[in-house]
Amino acid sequence: MMGSRIPKLNHLLVVIILVSFQTETLVVQVSGSEAYVTLLYGDEFLLGVRVLGKSIRDTGSTKDMVVLVSDGVSDYAKKLLEADGLIVELISLLANPNQVRPTRFWGVYTKLKIFNMTNYKKVVYLDADTIVVKSIEDLFKCGKFCANLKHSERMNSGVMVVQPSESVFKDMMSKVTTLPSYTGGDQGFLNSYYEGFSSAHVFEPNLSSDLRNSRPVPEMERLSTLYNADVGLYMLANKWMVDEKELRVIHYTLGPLKPWDWWTAWLLKPVDVWQDVRVRLEESLPGTGGGKNPTEELLVKLLFLIPLFALIFCYHRSIIQIQKDFFSALCRNSLHDNIRHLYYRLRASGGLAYSAVGVSSSSINDSNQQFFNGSLSKVPSYLGGVSVLVCFMAAIVAFALSVTVVPRQVMPWTGLLLVYEWTFTIFFITFGGYLHVIYKWGKTTATQAGSASSHDYNSGKGHQRLVSGCDVATWYYGLVMAFLAVATPSLPCFLGITALFLR
Ligand SMILES: *[C@@H]1O[C@H](CO)[C@@H](O)[C@H](O)[C@H]1NC(C)=O
Ligand SMILES: *[C@@H]1O[C@H](CO)[C@@H](O)[C@H](O)[C@H]1NC(C)=O
Repeated sequence: MMGSRIPKLNHLLVVIILVSFQTETLVVQVSGSEAYVTLLYGDEFLLGVRVLGKSIRDTGSTKDMVVLVSDGVSDYAKKLLEADGLIVELISLLANPNQVRPTRFWGVYTKLKIFNMTNYKKVVYLDADTIVVKSIEDLFKCGKFCANLKHSERMNSGVMVVQPSESVFKDMMSKVTTLPSYTGGDQGFLNSYYEGFSSAHVFEPNLSSDLRNSRPVPEMERLSTLYNADVGLYMLANKWMVDEKELRVIHYTLGPLKPWDWWTAWLLKPVDVWQDVRVRLEESLPGTGGGKNPTEELLVKLLFLIPLFALIFCYHRSIIQIQKDFFSALCRNSLHDNIRHLYYRLRASGGLAYSAVGVSSSSINDSNQQFFNGSLSKVPSYLGGVSVLVCFMAAIVAFALSVTVVPRQVMPWTGLLLVYEWTFTIFFITFGGYLHVIYKWGKTTATQAGSASSHDYNSGKGHQRLVSGCDVATWYYGLVMAFLAVATPSLPCFLGITALFLR
């Protein structure tokens, strides 16, 4: 009796173990044999990685998407990536062995760690500044190492297919200090490591699997430009050099023109594709839909309101100034003088004040009044030239300041409007301030000359004509400047220019 029961139990145990073992290996095989990989060194590229992940999912891929994340990345960013459905893997940076290198290349050798991802059979690596526009699943059919040629004979490490291997990784690590790197970074190193890459055969995704399996796996294969289309090329020709319908991966290589910077959308047409994916990003954490960022949203609202308050404040002050002048004018001796004085004041402030340029318009008219009065002969000749210079300086400073103030990764329209608002506000305040100082200065010199009371507003009809002429000129200049400010950035759009050169 006993002898027959124990073997039965043993059988059962073996069966259970076998079943559990099989399901385990099955799970690992299904979810873990192939993956898309990218690297994130800091939060600046976070939005890029999110959009890249979304673009891959949109092609219908169900493969793992791994983000190798280094120390410089915030916990919030990691949480957000995980909420987006990406697998976050922490890695330590590999030091760059090159002494002579660009400073931004301090950690780029870390990219070599994708060769050490041995829990996957094959990985497709994509830089965070790429976007997938059409399925690239066929890349997993690639051999041991695939990349694409960019700078004539050089290989670009922005898109790579890698068969992770401990021995290859160890071999690389042993050669990191000895092999030269023409870029001072990983790309130069890989070019030295995969010597002769430029003569490798082109990867053919449509090769039948029989044919593929019958030949030895090539050490390296070249990818077509479709898998790593550089926007730099688009810039030069104003079109894709390859069949646009077949395009798979767009690579936004250009330094200051990363797709997440708001101004790039106004300069580079291929960024539209990126922005389209960005606005479709889901709200995986509160307030992150459409690639938004809760703290940045708050900042944008503040940035929108601050100039408005500043202008209201300045306008209010100029009103107070007018009232003060009005009361001081009441103390003057002649009633006739007072009324005329008030008339000019109201005219000066009434003209442009409602359009929130009270400061500068009233100051312009004030200073003009001063010039056309008794002190006209004493106006220094250099004042005109200096004023033009100050005007241009104020405009440049205002523009530069507003570009630095506005967060880089806001939506293109938000960025443009905020920069306009800030530029105009800063310009009006600085240049209006300058005019105010000139006005004050003119007033004091006129008083010193002892001619202030006798020469003030006594030039009669001729004076009136001059002032009204000035009003028209101010309006004219203001309108032309406003027109230019709007027209200049939209000119490429009207002319159909989306690149450096015309089509
Ligand atoms: C490479 O991968 C192995 C196994 O996953 C790991 O133990 C090792 O630390 C990795 N090496 C580096 C330099 O990351
Ligand atoms: C591969 O085949 C698909 C259809 O199966 C075709 O659309 C595509 O153009 C082919 N690609 C190449 C490089 O021949």
